[in-house]
Amino acid sequence: MSTDNTNKPVLRSRHWYGKTDKDSFIHRSWMKNQGFPDHAFDGRPVIGICNTWSELTPCNSHLRTLAEGVKRGVWEAGGFPVEFPVMSLGETQIRPTAMLYRNLLSMDVEESIRAYGMDGVVLLGGCDKTTPGQLMGAASVDLPTIVVSSGPMLNGKWRGKDIGSGTDVWKFSEAVRAGEMSMADFMAAESGMSRSPGVCMTMGTASTMAGLVEAMGLSLPHNAALPAVDARRMALAHMTGKRIVEMVKEDLRLSKVLTRAAFENAIVTNAAMGGSTNAVVHLLAIAGRVGVPLTLDDFSTYGADVPCLVNCMPSGQYLMEDFCYAGGIPALLNSIQHLLQGAAPTIMGQAISSYWQAAENFNPDVIRPLNNPLRTAAGIRVLRGNIAPRGAIIKPSAASEHLLQHEAEAYVFESIEDLKANIDRPDLPVDENTILVLKGCGPKGYPGMAEVGNMPIPRKLVEQGVRDMVRISDARMSGTAFGTVILHVTPETQAGGPLGIVQTGDRIRIDVFKGELNLLISEDELEQRLANWQPPVIPFTRGYYKLYIDHVMQADTGADLDFLVGRSGSEVSRESH
Ligand code: FES
Ligand code: MG
Repeated sequence: MSTDNTNKPVLRSRHWYGKTDKDSFIHRSWMKNQGFPDHAFDGRPVIGICNTWSELTPCNSHLRTLAEGVKRGVWEAGGFPVEFPVMSLGETQIRPTAMLYRNLLSMDVEESIRAYGMDGVVLLGGCDKTTPGQLMGAASVDLPTIVVSSGPMLNGKWRGKDIGSGTDVWKFSEAVRAGEMSMADFMAAESGMSRSPGVCMTMGTASTMAGLVEAMGLSLPHNAALPAVDARRMALAHMTGKRIVEMVKEDLRLSKVLTRAAFENAIVTNAAMGGSTNAVVHLLAIAGRVGVPLTLDDFSTYGADVPCLVNCMPSGQYLMEDFCYAGGIPALLNSIQHLLQGAAPTIMGQAISSYWQAAENFNPDVIRPLNNPLRTAAGIRVLRGNIAPRGAIIKPSAASEHLLQHEAEAYVFESIEDLKANIDRPDLPVDENTILVLKGCGPKGYPGMAEVGNMPIPRKLVEQGVRDMVRISDARMSGTAFGTVILHVTPETQAGGPLGIVQTGDRIRIDVFKGELNLLISEDELEQRLANWQPPVIPFTRGYYKLYIDHVMQADTGADLDFLVGRSGSEVSRESH
């Protein structure tokens, strides 16, 4: 908020709608073509509802309805709601990967908020890259901001069983390859998996990010787990509309909530939820926008020893609907409050401890008590070594315990095409101990750092019953995926990282407990191979692909574009006429 000549705060929107000159005439008059009455422009806070609705983003396809809920609350509290669209990223529909466009969405969000006459923002989003992309953009403007998430789909149902988004796709597809599931059953499961609007109902990246948003105090309590179609989500949208108007009056900006304490709480919560590995790149990127120093090592420091309590797929057996009915994020935070910083501020204007104070756990098999965790020491671990000098990560809660310390020969795929062409070869020289390596799938290489790190198990081994192997790449993996999968190797191969010089037959040793990942060759040999190695030529020479490849940072700092780090603020620019 700026101030007038009597030092009274002036809402940002008054620069658009609060004057008697030609420009304000234009701003008001054209808005009135939608039937808004005079009093909409009487100085009440203007609330932008940043909507990622799209029929191509099924997870966000109901957000126009939720926007109506937000509007009810904004009007009720004396504000003026205006809904606007931004780019929508349909994780399951977009190629080569939604992650390529997360930063573009963030630019759309940032520039839209700054360019229009709004005083506060409600971010409506859900699908994986939406929440981080919206928060990154909003953080760079730093107006009062609240998130309303899409909410998860109802539990998948098939043949009387619960099935989970993503997680069971990976399982079914391996079962088909092993000859244990018929093609007819595989096709039939499709319709039962996705039965309602909403995001993946496993603890994938969407529900992870929604959970972290709630644990960071960026949404109302219970925002993460209420199913998309639960009437209470509409009520939550309404209450969010009321609250954002108050937040504008309090000048409670995003940067006052997005503190270092909030990020530390997010890391702890992610571990306790068995949350997605993608949270690492997203939290790092958001922190970079708001100017909070956060490093890859903070994930090991704050998260590694935290037990996983939420028994949801892919780490456990239940789904988000069950998590909601068990008490959701407030009940989880209540159980881990001794690990959290209860004084961290929230959009409610109260400390985060107020979110969990009255919370109860209604199902101790879904939200396990501390003395019966799903896994102990479950948080994401950072690994380093001569293959990953700037780090790599693994999610032990979704890995096989016996592979967390492992040494074996590597089998290398030089690209995703190489993998797809050869993984099912009956003569592939691999056994269950082999370490699979995949190159060229990092931010620049793919481009966009696709979710291909959970490589399929070679068909000949699937047929023998093998369901997990150590896999190493510079890719990410879906938050719904599982396995002993080492991801985000940095620097990536395309940026000259030493993963590029690993050859089939080399021995690799991993020790997740010690945080080590090493290629067992001499330093001289490593130097010599690096000197002779050239990254493949990438064929992208124009447009957003080129901008992205030229400017994307590596995974260890969040894979944002280098020129987007930090804030430009909510400056009111010069007039358009
Ligand atoms: Fe949208 Fe999983 S695909 S949340
Ligand atoms: Mg995903």
